[in-house]
Amino acid sequence: MNGVLVVGGAGYIGSHTCLNLSQRGFTPIVYDNLVNGHREFAKWGPFEFGDVRDRERLDQVLSSYKPIAIVHLAGLIDVGLSVKKPIDFFDSNLAGSTTLFAAAMQARIDKLVFSSTCATYGIPLQVPIREDHPQSPINPYGKSKLMVEQILKELQFRNDFRSVILRYFNAAGADPQGRIGEWHTPETHLIPLTIASVQSNSALKIFGTDYPTRDGTCIRDFIHVCDIAEAHGRGIDHLMAGGESVALNLGTGRGTSVSEIIEAVRRISGKEMKVELCPRREGDPPELVADNALAKATLGWRPTFDLESIIESAWNWHQKMVSRLSLGPEAPNELT
Ligand SMILES: NC(=O)c1ccc[n+]([C@@H]2O[C@H](COP(=O)([O-])OP(=O)(O)OC[C@H]3O[C@@H](n4cnc5c(N)ncnc54)[C@H](O)[C@@H]3O)[C@@H](O)[C@H]2O)c1
Repeated sequence: MNGVLVVGGAGYIGSHTCLNLSQRGFTPIVYDNLVNGHREFAKWGPFEFGDVRDRERLDQVLSSYKPIAIVHLAGLIDVGLSVKKPIDFFDSNLAGSTTLFAAAMQARIDKLVFSSTCATYGIPLQVPIREDHPQSPINPYGKSKLMVEQILKELQFRNDFRSVILRYFNAAGADPQGRIGEWHTPETHLIPLTIASVQSNSALKIFGTDYPTRDGTCIRDFIHVCDIAEAHGRGIDHLMAGGESVALNLGTGRGTSVSEIIEAVRRISGKEMKVELCPRREGDPPELVADNALAKATLGWRPTFDLESIIESAWNWHQKMVSRLSLGPEAPNELT
C-alpha cells in the first residue's frame, strides 16, 4: 500500500489533504482523536482513532500500515484558548509532535510534512513576510508551533529525518464539490463567521477600523484550502524525490481587508448583513501577507483559487451545513 499517515486528517485542512493525496495515488490513513475532527471527513482511506500523544497506539498503527511518509496536522488551533490554557497547547501540539516523531523514527519513517503557521512570525516587521523574517510568536499557540519547527530542524541534522514545514496564512474555502469544508466548533475564522452572520441575521463584530490600512480594517492573506492541500501533496513528492528539508510560506501574496471580505460575502450571497464596530483587539497585527516565492520555486506550486472562488465555495458549504450548525445568539463571533 502506498500509504501516507495523515495525523489530524479528520479536520478541516487534513481532510482536504487526504482528498489531494488520494488523487495523487496515495492511500491516506487518517489518525485522529476527533477532539475537533469529524469521522465523516475521513472518506478517502482507512480511519484509525488515536491520540498523537499515545505512543503505543501510534506504534500499532505504524506497524500495521507501514506508511511511506507522514503529514502532521494534529493540534489545537484556537489562539485565544491558547492564552487561557497554554499547557493544553504545549501538551497537544508540542508533546504530541515529539511523541509522533519518536514513533516515526523507530518505524524507520524519515519524511514528514508539518502544519505550521504565520503566527510563528508574531507582529511582522515588514510585509510581505519572507521565510527568513524573524520568528517571534506572541501567543502559546504560535510558540508551540515554533518549538516543533525547531525540533524538526534538529532532527534533520542529527537523524536525517527530512521535513517540509508549511506555514499557512489564512486557510479558507471548501472542496468545490461540497464533500468537505470548514467545520470548527467554536468557529473563530473570519469567512465562516461572516457567512454565519448572514445566515443567522446577527451582527458580525469588526475589531478595529482605525488601522493604517486602505480601509482601516485588518488585512490578511486568504488561501484556498485546496491550494494548501496541493502543497502537501507536492511536499510529499519533494521528499520522495530526495528533496531537502525546507520551511515554506503558503499564502497567495495578496492581502484582503476585513471590509473587503464582508463586501464579497454580501455580493456572493446576495444578502445584506449587520456589522458591529468594536475597538482593536490586543495582538492583531494590521497586515499579514505572505511572500510565497520560495514555495513556488521549491514545489512548483501556485495558488489557483481567487477570492471569489474562496468565498463561493465557503458559502455553498455553509449553506449545506446550515441545518446542522447552531447559529443561535450565543454563536461565537470573533475574528482571528
Ligand atoms: N485553519 C487555519 O487557518 C490554519 C492556519 C495556520 C495553521 N493551521 C494549522 O493547521 C492544522 C490543521 O488546522 P485545521 O484548521 O484543519 O484544524 P482542525 O481542528 O479542523 O484539525 C485538527 C485535527 O487534529 C485533531 N487533533 C487535535 N488534537 C489531537 C490529538 N492530540 N491527537 C490526535 N488528533 C488530534 C482534531 O481532532 C482535528 O481533526 C493545525 O495544526 C493548525 O495549527 C491552520
